[in-house]
Amino acid sequence: MVDVILGLQWGDEGKGKIVDFFAPRYDIIARFQGGPNAGHTLYVNDKKVVLHQIPSGIFHDKTTNLIGNGVVLDPITFKKECESVASFGVDYKKNLLISQRAHLIIPTHRALDKASEVSKGNEKIGSTLKGIGPAYMDKTGRNGLRVGDLLDKNFTTQYIRLRLKHQKLLDGLNFHEDISDWEEEFFEALEFMRQFKIVNGEYYINNKISEGKKVLAEGAQGSMLDVDFGTFPFVTSSNTISAGVCTGLGVAPQQIRDVIGVSKAYCTRVGSGPFPTELNDPTGEELRKTGSEFGATTGRPRRCGWIDLVALKFACMINGVTKIVMTKADVLDAFEELKVCTAYNIDGESTDEIPFQMNRVNIEPQLQTFAGWKTDTTSLKNYNNLPQRMIEYVEFINKYLKVNITYISNGPGRDQLVENV
Ligand code: GDP
Ligand code: IMO
Ligand code: MG
Repeated sequence: MVDVILGLQWGDEGKGKIVDFFAPRYDIIARFQGGPNAGHTLYVNDKKVVLHQIPSGIFHDKTTNLIGNGVVLDPITFKKECESVASFGVDYKKNLLISQRAHLIIPTHRALDKASEVSKGNEKIGSTLKGIGPAYMDKTGRNGLRVGDLLDKNFTTQYIRLRLKHQKLLDGLNFHEDISDWEEEFFEALEFMRQFKIVNGEYYINNKISEGKKVLAEGAQGSMLDVDFGTFPFVTSSNTISAGVCTGLGVAPQQIRDVIGVSKAYCTRVGSGPFPTELNDPTGEELRKTGSEFGATTGRPRRCGWIDLVALKFACMINGVTKIVMTKADVLDAFEELKVCTAYNIDGESTDEIPFQMNRVNIEPQLQTFAGWKTDTTSLKNYNNLPQRMIEYVEFINKYLKVNITYISNGPGRDQLVENV
């Protein structure tokens, strides 16, 4: 049996905290896509940790953490992350496995990411510049190197061949960067990675499922950044939706039970691209300040706006969401009034569907106003004790989406989660 936790918006919904909370209920936590572009924040003994590639179950002694084949793995970041979790006393070698089919991000992938963004000028994606796009291009272009290749005696030859290919592309883009320091670090990190259990992830996970073990698949980014269904071309390069679990881990669709979608009580986006409910005003600034909306990976300020139910409904549809976790509800505690987008006005027509090219049409969000609850909710534990106006807000969303908000997160801490059963 596999349950999934994934983001329903443009990433940073609080997936890390939620996975960490649910982890004790599962035997295996498995990342199925993305790479070091992700930044999943957890609080362990009140200390903040940001994970990029290591699954968010790593702080639980009894869970195994698998980096699935759908992930693109940067060895340098991986080594740093391992060192960071070790400082919490985690014996990562014991319960961290890597799929042999996961693709490697090599230093020239990062250079290519930069070169591509520079060449786009004002049209740039706002990539995290971690080499994600180029690494996935080498996967689908059938050139990439995989973790399993590390055990091949010809690895260095294969690496040099790929680097040469990249160098030609970089020359074509007239982009020159000295990668010698990165390369040294990269080879050190590869040595470090060779000590890990490199497994055949698909057999591993399916054997465990046959034994009755429970798997939690952890998504990175969010559904509106999905390469097929997101706001293309302002997306990431992987399938962030529930279908990505099948290809990113090698599990069949009928193994998937719950798809738990995580959404903020409002909305944020980092990087370029359309964002119909964005607030470029003091209210947007207040959301950013109250919600500490700065990127966990790049530190960039996140763009902020009201919750977008048109986009959320779309995300529920393409993922088959069975339960919703609404995070950062406490960030709205002090607001006088709140707004919710229920439809888009495009060229005088109202629609509740996502248009083909969101960035080529002028979208005016139709907003419904709610009175704020003006109550500190951060210590509340019971759904029935939540302020009535907060319950009204939640129930309006449930009704619109036809999927229930089953958990409300009211603070970054592990124990700040209110269940509505
Ligand atoms: P992820 O990428 O989806 O894991 O999310 P990030 O870690 O990038 O961003 C979420 C941020 O919100 C982190 O700083 C979390 O500590 C914080 N956070 C998560 N849930 C809550 C919540 O319910 N309330 C508040 N105030 N902060 C939260
Ligand atoms: P988590 O897992 C928010 C955004 C980037 C950029 C676009 C493409 O923490 O939710 P990429 O580096 O993939 O080429 O960037 O996607 N992006 C994210 N935004 N959260 C993330 O991950 C993101 N990963 C990528 O800002 O707009
Ligand atoms: Mg994040």
